Amino acid sequence: MLIMIAGTETTVHAIGTLLVHLMAHPLQRALITERTVPLEDALEESLRLQPPVSSVPLRFAVRDFTDPGTGEAFTRGETIGIHTAATGLDPQVHDDPQAFDVRRPTLRRHLAFGNGPPFCPGALLARREVLTAVAQWLTAFPASRLAVEPGQLRLVPSFISKGFRVNPVHLRFHAAWRAA
Ligand code: HEM
Repeated sequence: MLIMIAGTETTVHAIGTLLVHLMAHPLQRALITERTVPLEDALEESLRLQPPVSSVPLRFAVRDFTDPGTGEAFTRGETIGIHTAATGLDPQVHDDPQAFDVRRPTLRRHLAFGNGPPFCPGALLARREVLTAVAQWLTAFPASRLAVEPGQLRLVPSFISKGFRVNPVHLRFHAAWRAA
C-alpha cells in the first residue's frame, strides 16, 4: 500500500507539473527539444519549483531545541510539520526562485525526495518514469500547449501533495501520427 500510494500520485504530479512548466515556457521547452539542455535538468528544475510532496508531516522533536534560523522554540515530543518545498524557493540559494529556468545552476538543490533515513526509495524509478513519459509526450505532441492560462490551473486540495487537478491542453497531433 505504501509503495502504491507513495509512488503513484507523486509521479503523476511530477509528470503533469513538468509538462505544464514546459508548455507555459516555450523558450525553455525549445532548449529541451533542441537538446541544448537535457530533459533531466528540466525535471530537476520542475521538482525544485513545485515538488509533488510539499510537506512532510508527523515529525516529533526528540529534545527541546530552538531553530537557529527563526528563533522558534520546540519542546520534546512536539509535532513538527516540515515544508520541504520551501528549500527550493530559498532566495539565499536560488536567484529569482519563482522563475522556471532549466539552466539554473542550483536546480538540483531541493528536497523533493526528502532527506535523511526516509529519503524516497523510489526516487530513481520516479525520475525514470517522468523522463520516459515526458520525452514521449514531447515527441508525440510537439505543438501541444496549455488550453488555459497557467494561473487558472487549480492545485489538488492538500498541504502535502502538490499538483494540478487537471491539465487542459490542446494536443495538435504530430503530422506523422495523423498519417499512420
Ligand atoms: C516524483 C515522484 C516522487 C516524489 C516527489 C516522492 C517523494 C517522497 C518524499 C518527499 C518522501 C519522504 C517522506 C518523508 O520524509 O516522510 C518519500 C518517501 C517514500 N517514497 Fe517517494 N516519491 C516519489 C515517487 C516514489 C515511487 C515511484 C515510489 C515507489 C515505487 C516511492 C516510494 C516511497 C516510499 C515507500 C517512501 C517511504 C520511505 C520511508 O519512510 O522510509 N516514491 N517519497
